[in-house]
Formats: sequence, C-alpha cells, structure tokens
Amino acid sequence: MTTTANQSLWLHTVSDTSDHPALPGPREADVVVIGGGIAGLTTALLLARRGVDVVVLEAGRVGAGVSGNNTAKVTALQSTMYSTLERDHDGSVAARYGAAATAGVALVAALAEGIGCDLHRAPAATFAYTADEIETVRAEADAAERAGLPVEWADRLDVGFPTFGAVRLPGQFVLHPANYVRGLAAALIDAGGRIFEHSRVHDVSVTSPYQVRTDGGAVTAEQVVVATHYPILDRGLFFARLDAQRSYCVAARLSTGAPPAELAISVGSPAWSLSRHGDHLIVGGQSHPAGERGVDFSRYNALEDFARKHFDIAEITHRWSAQDPVAFDKLPMVGSYLPGAAHLWVATGFAKWGLAMGTVAGEILADRVTGADNPHAELFSPHRLSLSNAPTLLQQNAKVAKDLIADRLIPAEAADADEIPVDTARVVSDGLGKKGVYRDRMGGTHAVSLRCTHLGCLLRFNGAERSWDCPCHGSRFDVDGAVLEGPATRPLPKRAP
Ligand code: FES
Repeated sequence: MTTTANQSLWLHTVSDTSDHPALPGPREADVVVIGGGIAGLTTALLLARRGVDVVVLEAGRVGAGVSGNNTAKVTALQSTMYSTLERDHDGSVAARYGAAATAGVALVAALAEGIGCDLHRAPAATFAYTADEIETVRAEADAAERAGLPVEWADRLDVGFPTFGAVRLPGQFVLHPANYVRGLAAALIDAGGRIFEHSRVHDVSVTSPYQVRTDGGAVTAEQVVVATHYPILDRGLFFARLDAQRSYCVAARLSTGAPPAELAISVGSPAWSLSRHGDHLIVGGQSHPAGERGVDFSRYNALEDFARKHFDIAEITHRWSAQDPVAFDKLPMVGSYLPGAAHLWVATGFAKWGLAMGTVAGEILADRVTGADNPHAELFSPHRLSLSNAPTLLQQNAKVAKDLIADRLIPAEAADADEIPVDTARVVSDGLGKKGVYRDRMGGTHAVSLRCTHLGCLLRFNGAERSWDCPCHGSRFDVDGAVLEGPATRPLPKRAP
C-alpha cells in the first residue's frame, strides 16, 4: 500500500537539511534580498556576478515557497494572457509582455546550464476542453500571434483525451523547480553571495542605509530588494493592488502509457493544467481567492477525479498547493517600492507564471540596482496608472473592506472545543471575541486568535491544507499559529482551547 505525500513532487525529492545557516547576528552588505525564491535568487545571483556584495534572507528554506510548489512550466504562452492584456490595455502592452516572457524563458534556460534540474524542452499549449471554449482559444491564438510569439494552431492536442483545438508554442521548458532554485543558491554562494535561511524579516527601516531586522539580528545595506512573493512591508499600497489566488496540484504515476509531452492548460472554468516530470503526470487547477470560505479536500478530489477519468492511474503520489498574487491589471510589479525610492525595490504579481516572469523580474532588478537600463522595466513599473483597470481595483478593495468588517458579525460555529469533530476546525467564542480551534486526529486541540497579524482581518479555515487563511491579502498560518505565508510576519497568539 502506498501513501500520498502532502508535499510537492519537487520538495519531496530534495533533502530536508538546511544548506545555509540562520542569521547569527548583525551583518553588512551592499544589497539585501528578502526572499529565497526564483525572483530573489535570480536577482541576487545576477548582482553577485557583477561584483555586488549580496545577502539573501529567507524566512524558511530556499525554494520552499511557491518556487517549490508549482507545475514546473517555464513558458511564454500563459493561458489566456495575451487576449486578456489586449482587452485590458492599450497599444503594445501584450507584445511587450511577450518579449519579457520570452526573455524570462531564455534566461531560465541559460541559468539552468550546469544545474542538475532535469531541464527539458516541451511545447506549451492553451486548449479547449469543451467545444464552447474554442472561441476563447482562437482569440488567444490571434492575440499571441499579434504579440509576436511563434504560435501554431492545432485542431487536436495529443494529450490522451479529446480536445477541441489548441494554440501551441514550441520550444518552452519544464524542469525540477526545487533543484533549479537550489542550483541558483549554490551558484550565488560560488559568486560570493551569502544566504541565511530560517531568518524571517520582520521590519525594514524607512531610509537608506536600511536596517533589515530579523530575530537573529539586522543586516545593514544601502539597497533592499523585497522578493517575498507577496510584499511584506506596509508601504507602497501593494495590498490594495494585489489579489491572492490559491490553486492545487496532484501528481500521479500511470499504469500504462506516458504522460503527455504538452505543458497544457484549458481555458474554461474550472481550468485544467497538465504538466509532467519523468513518468509522473501533474494535474493542476481548482483555483480560488485566498481565504475563501468552505475550502476543503474536495479541491484535491476534483483533480484526482479528472486524472482518473482521462488516464490509467496507478497511484496518486503527491498533493500540493500554492498561492499567487495577481495584480489588478495582470502585469507583474517590478521596480521601486515607492515612487522615487531609488534604493528599495520589489518584485511581485507573477500571476502563476513565476518561473518565467520571476526570472525576468530578477534581471530587471539586477539592472535597476546597478543603474543599468532594462527594456522591460517600464512596463512592469509598480507605479503605473491604468484608468481602464480602475473598476477591478475598486472591486478588489471593496471585497477586502467587506472581509475586514463583515466577518466580525459571524456567529461562533461551536460553543466550546468539545463539540468539534476530529480533523475539523471551528470558530469558537472567546470572551467578547472569537478564536479558531482545530481538533487533530489524535483528539488534541489547537486554539489560536483568529485576527490576522497583518492588518486584522478574521481568518478562515482551509480544510484542504489544515491552515488558517486570510481573505484580505492571503496570509496563512498553521493550526498552532506559525506563519506559513505572508504578508504577515508575526505568528497568531495562542488561546486556551
Ligand atoms: Fe492582510 Fe490578513 S493578510 S489582513
């Protein structure tokens, strides 16, 4: 009998031991990069190779966030990105995005040379799973072509089940993302950089030279890059312009045949994503806004059902999920953290396509930090204005305001912890407030404050991940209150069960 790992295929196959120490005390550097994922490590490596003294501070392990929890696709064809950009933006934005995405893919391929990360070429595809999706796929094919991508049309896609047309982009890549990130980290050390793991940054001083503070001490640096996926600093109003989306994956071993070569995604709702690693099929999807109410294990079951319906599955080997900030206008935000701030930088908003877009972000930031021009910098400026996207922005912020206030009126779900079934969580009254109580499989109870330590929204339980998730900006906490995902940097206070 086999057991499915609740861990990504990628993180399950790398060692658990830390490669880098925690910050042992005060240090100095030219540049501190906060965040040891694709964007942060690419920035740091390119800077170190230019002779810059770089320190990377990572809250957990390098690559343990979304960089190690994804579908491993490195592609410039990204679902319906080009038709969306044409619809929502003026003029040349889609073509400029295509050039940046293509540059990101090429840079991954160049950086991966010499890293044992199983890099393979593979065609990417956006496909119609049902007949009524054809029009959307046609529109994407036309938009991608106008954006300058060498796409081709296929009436049928060779994925093992019937499809209704697809746009394909040959020559993209798939790799082992956790090994790739670890390879970037090793290359950074070789280039003279320093990495400190288990060193969560709580605060950055307001002016340069910056004090970047962790529990283990502070690093002083002239410049700071915030590459924490969702920006952790309460400045720059990023919280008002980003929407966190959570999605899920399963990996399966097939009884017969091989997984499809295509890195494919369908355009309907729900969307289905297909990828592969060796003889493993990876099915992804079931996206929802972070902190959505009522999320449970059915997200994984739906992916498993899809896999079993279309493939001869021997076993489901892994399950994992990840969260991605999406900007109000769908473009990444890469550049100065505040208008006119020449020493504090940010990279975020890769909208689920971080292997390519986080990499091009790293190149942009390495150029900005060293004063070099970059052809993609202006498009992704975090301070761009777009009146055509104002309604989306207003909608996003109205939702946050509602989540901040309305949840406080929700009644407790259980009078006390004894009423809670095993492997279930409930909101329980706690004096004048509320607490979240989870009863584990051994019958033990875990009680925490439900007030998010970021800006105070009330958390909701995610039954698929057994975590407390914030509907406002996507912070996540485990059942004992430890931070799993920012922008929060402080744990939840524990409560008596
Ligand atoms: Fe902002 Fe929770 S993540 S209030």
